[in-house]
Amino acid sequence: MPVPSLQKALFLEEKQGQWAVRTTEVVRPESGDIVVKVEAAALGGVEWKIQAWGVLVKKHPVILGLDGAGTVVELGEGVTTFAVGDRVLFQGNWDAATGTGTGTFLQYFTIPAQFVAKIPDNISFEAASTVPLGVGTAAFSIYNQADSAPSARCLAPWLPGGRGKYAGKSAVILGGSTSHGQYALQLARLSGFSPIITTGSLRNADLLKSFGATHVLDRKLSDEEIKAQVTQSAGGPVELVYDAVSTAATFPLALALTAPGGNMLVVQVAPDKLVEEARKDGKTVHKIHGVFRTPINHEISTTLLAKLPELLESGGIKPNRWEVLPGGLNGIVGGLERMKNDQVSGVKLVVRPQETD
Ligand SMILES: NC(=O)c1ccc[n+]([C@@H]2O[C@H](COP(=O)([O-])OP(=O)(O)OC[C@H]3O[C@@H](n4cnc5c(N)ncnc54)[C@H](OP(=O)(O)O)[C@@H]3O)[C@@H](O)[C@H]2O)c1
Repeated sequence: MPVPSLQKALFLEEKQGQWAVRTTEVVRPESGDIVVKVEAAALGGVEWKIQAWGVLVKKHPVILGLDGAGTVVELGEGVTTFAVGDRVLFQGNWDAATGTGTGTFLQYFTIPAQFVAKIPDNISFEAASTVPLGVGTAAFSIYNQADSAPSARCLAPWLPGGRGKYAGKSAVILGGSTSHGQYALQLARLSGFSPIITTGSLRNADLLKSFGATHVLDRKLSDEEIKAQVTQSAGGPVELVYDAVSTAATFPLALALTAPGGNMLVVQVAPDKLVEEARKDGKTVHKIHGVFRTPINHEISTTLLAKLPELLESGGIKPNRWEVLPGGLNGIVGGLERMKNDQVSGVKLVVRPQETD
């Protein structure tokens, strides 16, 4: 397939600056890389924060975007695991240590083949683009067994002996409607956790149950009411508490629900005071890091990416519901504004970069 030398991409021009769709070069593949024509890119909860708060990114202009799916159009030297024409999903290239990288809000993406998974025929590009960051975030935090990984260190359900291993143990996932919360629910179900208790808006209750929640509690209930209902359903404090929201509103509840000696998984940095309080009670707070390319995640990424096509094909893991924004890459800024204003519920926003004018 011919690969153009130029493409369109959405840039954040400077820290807390303007967004602009403009032309840039397609990056040539190095040894081990593949080039993908991006058919779908999904918006995440972090991109508007990077623009509004000036966090995480150290070098501008930058192309953001952590989720993508498309067709392989070129292979770098030595790549044997993929062929031109393969349908694949992938995360943006992000180096958290340096705050630099290139995301998926563009038309042609160049990425090491080792961080890519094939998409089965029954999954569309749009659906596939909702998977990479969400599934990585949930999976690494619950199952990564690498030394010093921020993880509950359970045995992954895609590894021998992992499926159903935690039968009879309870799990709480605060914010099951978030993109990665939906994957955490499904992984917890594959692991056999029961009950699986989640919070969200009740209009999403059926969706959350379809992903594995056994109990859906209204997020508007007071912490006391949620604690009482969790205690009743779980029979006591819970060893695995995954706070998919991780704000001042959810941290104290997550801590209160975690059993002494249990694991509290958070996606944003928790206040020092809360971490200290947890430690005194023998609880561990793990700050989740869902990026495949981060060295501590390499080993688990390899096994997960190898099994992901099968898990998606069988329905063991279902993608998020998705909504396509019109205008290709030009639709992203409006979508991020909706996310910032809390106007997106239980659905992942997706663009088709090839439709960019
Ligand atoms: N550390 C990492 O590696 C990592 C990776 C991925 C994401 N994140 C972070 O995780 C957060 C979620 O991101 P996302 O893109 O997955 O989700 P998202 O799609 O932005 O989440 C939206 C959902 O959050 C739910 N929600 C909001 N406040 C809630 C509350 N107090 N209780 C329960 N549910 C609540 C809403 O559920 P209802 O509609 O049902 O009310 C809404 O549907 C973001 O802060 C993101 O930056 C971190």
